[in-house]
Amino acid sequence: MQISSNSPGSLKAPRHLAVIMDGNGRWAQLRGKQRVFGHKEGAKSVRRVIKQSVALGVKELTLFAFSSENWKRPAIEVNALMALFVEAIKKESKSLLENGIKTKILGDLSRFPSILQNQIQKLEELTKDCNVMTLNIAANYGGRWDILQAAKSLVSDIAQSKININELNEDLLSQRLSTVQNVDLMIRTGGEKRISNFLLWQAAYAELYFTDVLWPDFDENELIKAVEFYNTRERRFGQTSEQVKLKDTNNAN
Ligand code: IPE
Ligand code: IPE
Ligand code: MG
Repeated sequence: MQISSNSPGSLKAPRHLAVIMDGNGRWAQLRGKQRVFGHKEGAKSVRRVIKQSVALGVKELTLFAFSSENWKRPAIEVNALMALFVEAIKKESKSLLENGIKTKILGDLSRFPSILQNQIQKLEELTKDCNVMTLNIAANYGGRWDILQAAKSLVSDIAQSKININELNEDLLSQRLSTVQNVDLMIRTGGEKRISNFLLWQAAYAELYFTDVLWPDFDENELIKAVEFYNTRERRFGQTSEQVKLKDTNNAN
């Protein structure tokens, strides 16, 4: 394995890192195995990336585990994924708590088996005061669903005269989303260059990093490479490069 020259300590970490964990099925099929085998192997990458994100100083990590569109997959795969979620929560709850990782599940949970819904509630309650890093697992999540549920909640408050429609602004809507912080860096493994309805609103100004590495092969060093890429980006947010440089100089003084 090629070790990256940068140590985690010398890199500027994205505050909010989002990852589309793609390529499990192909990883397994390349080895002549069932797709589920790839999902199991992918769970190991999840553990590695959580640990390395903490080491890098990431404050919020959002992982796309199951999209609202993934219900269209064969039932055998969907059921296996549900079983893997249940198992992962059982196995990892203690270590998440011990490592100070506040864990939340983002998405419409109503369609999940009730055992899973209960476990999720317990895990969120258990880790609610942790403050080293927030880990969001997006499950039955869709960016459009997120914006829609935020809009519905605002409409309901407007109907009850809790909010005046003239006061509506982007901030108010963003506070109703399942996670508020803007994404700084979005990684997609597995070679595709699309967002697949992930954090649409929150990723409006995210730096995008696409890699052909399949998710089960994504390790600590691959994450460092993505953060190195992030460190080479100038985040202009609509301004000119000169304006950004001037601001940086002023901030440094
Ligand atoms: C990502 O891997 C995991 C989920 C969507 C649950 P895939 O299962 O999409 O793997 P590929 O893209 O078919 O290789
Ligand atoms: C996106 O992967 C969703 C997750 C990683 C959970 P998919 O493999 O489902 O994406 P598409 O459908 O190929 O875009
Ligand atoms: Mg895929």
